[in-house]
Amino acid sequence: MALRQDVQAIKERVDIIALVSRYVTLAKSGSSHKGRCPFHKDDTPSFMVNGEKGLWHCFGCGEGGDAIGFLMKIEKLSFMEAAQRLAEETGVSLTSSREDGERDALRAVVAAAAEHFAANLTDARAGARARAYLESRGFDEAAWKRYGLGYALPGWDNVKRALGARFGAERLLQAGLVVEGEKGTYDRFRDRTMFPIFDLSGRPIAFGGRAFEGEPKYLNSPTTTLFDKSRYLYGLHWARDAMRAAGHAVLVEGYTDVLTLHQAGLTNVVGSMGTSLTQGQADLLGRLVREVVIAYDRDSAGGAGAVRGMQILRNSGLDVRVARYAEDEDPDSLVRKYGGGAMRDAVQDAVPFHQFYLDSLAARHNPRTVAGKEAILAEARDFYRGVRSLPLQQEIARGIADLLDLPPEGVARELGPRRGRSVAGGDGGPSSRASWGAEDDLLSLLLRGDVTWARVAGTVTVDDFAPEHRPLADALANAPESPRICDWVVERLREQGLEDLVERATYYALAPVKFADVDRALEDALEHAVRLPRLERKLAEVGAAIRAAAEAGQWEEWARLTRDQQAVADEVAQAAVRDARRGMHGRGQGEAQGEGEAKAG
Ligand code: CTP
Ligand code: MN
Repeated sequence: MALRQDVQAIKERVDIIALVSRYVTLAKSGSSHKGRCPFHKDDTPSFMVNGEKGLWHCFGCGEGGDAIGFLMKIEKLSFMEAAQRLAEETGVSLTSSREDGERDALRAVVAAAAEHFAANLTDARAGARARAYLESRGFDEAAWKRYGLGYALPGWDNVKRALGARFGAERLLQAGLVVEGEKGTYDRFRDRTMFPIFDLSGRPIAFGGRAFEGEPKYLNSPTTTLFDKSRYLYGLHWARDAMRAAGHAVLVEGYTDVLTLHQAGLTNVVGSMGTSLTQGQADLLGRLVREVVIAYDRDSAGGAGAVRGMQILRNSGLDVRVARYAEDEDPDSLVRKYGGGAMRDAVQDAVPFHQFYLDSLAARHNPRTVAGKEAILAEARDFYRGVRSLPLQQEIARGIADLLDLPPEGVARELGPRRGRSVAGGDGGPSSRASWGAEDDLLSLLLRGDVTWARVAGTVTVDDFAPEHRPLADALANAPESPRICDWVVERLREQGLEDLVERATYYALAPVKFADVDRALEDALEHAVRLPRLERKLAEVGAAIRAAAEAGQWEEWARLTRDQQAVADEVAQAAVRDARRGMHGRGQGEAQGEGEAKAG
């Protein structure tokens, strides 16, 4: 893929030390440079940049990545924007691939459709009902123009007839404007008021269409080459600058909520197009703001989908508050009834999302009865476990303890184990880990380039790694041999949208662990991360088979399996002896190692 090569070329040419130095004062420290992290309040310099590896990582907040990732975060740019900028600086020209041609062609169809819908709306007869509807909702002619609103005519082939000859049936299908039926294609949007969805450059890429009555109330474009609802926010290109300036965004559910609030002068408002916010949408928000104020409809804010979305935002490192208003209101109706000031107040008074959740628990169950207490604990368990920040978990446990009049430690225990080895994010970042184990050693050896995948390929498969590490292992397994292996891996992970793992990878690559004896460290790591766990799995399997054989009275089978079991147990014992003889000499516990672990637990 041409883009990949261009990106590789940019990364090879860019001087990451010089780039970071524009924003951070760096001092040389060993083979790396060190400074105060620009992404969190950093009193001890915990921000490391390694020029040779082309990577940075903050051992305070856990963020990390390559030069492009740094520019994205610090200038709040998209990947392509950051790549474009560095391309210019390094004299690399980003190729416009065939894919771009495809996208241009689709954009032309969608733009033509938007014009067609807009023309219908102003058509004296055909558009009368939609105009009346929009006016009744407070959108006048200036608003139609500003927001590109339109109307899809009744009938099955108006779009087809208007655009088919110019663009061809196939393009209309690709753009999601027509649907394939038994007797050919027909218009997707019929007799609906149309809300175009714009990309960040203000070009229409999809539509939401509202019915006057009947279900579904809203119909959206499907996922196309241009549009993926889970990676878009309605109104983002109108709101982007205001969001950046305010430092926070107001997130609403609906198209009309967005438009009404913008009209009322609240311009940092974007719409999630429903309540099930996705990680992709959270990433978009995270590039622009530190805080999100959720302003969903009163009746959906407490729903499971909305709560999940709040957790996604929080786990992406954003502060999350929830606006509250009277029963049955949504932001659109609130502003209509009480004006923009009421909405501004609601945003101002929004409460932290966990507080909102606790209040909603207290409203739904009686915290003074045993049954009510049980119900609250049962319901809060998933919520608690879905939060990745330890301090926040503690605060939730304390809040619930207060509510139920129970001891906080007991409540915390009841709500469940803290995540063990899952990929960290949020507060502690990847550096807040329970313990550093053999698999961490193995990944570290591989990502530093101390050991090549080829060397371990005979012993290890991707499936030997913990599930959350598998994409990382998979990238390693497919990487070309290169001194900048981690940089290559980071690129693959970013392509897959695995930001958590990008940070994890730079952590492994830059953590100041010292492997005094690489061969020995590798041997230890393979033994403890791969061979022993395999033997243990095998023991468990054989054990289960033995019980099954006993239950079925298959005594010959039972005897054979018992011998197998003994053989595996012997192997485990031998491994223990080897271990004791070898000692854990591989890794010198360099003082800097403690730095990574100081935040543990
Ligand atoms: N939505 C959707 N499909 C539906 C219902 C809703 O995609 N069948 C999305 C739309 O983006 C909609 C948002 O969820 O704007 C919020 O839904 P709702 O609150 O029902 O929409 P409102 O914008 O409040 O609707 P109305 O036009 O009645 O104000
Ligand atoms: Mn609504």
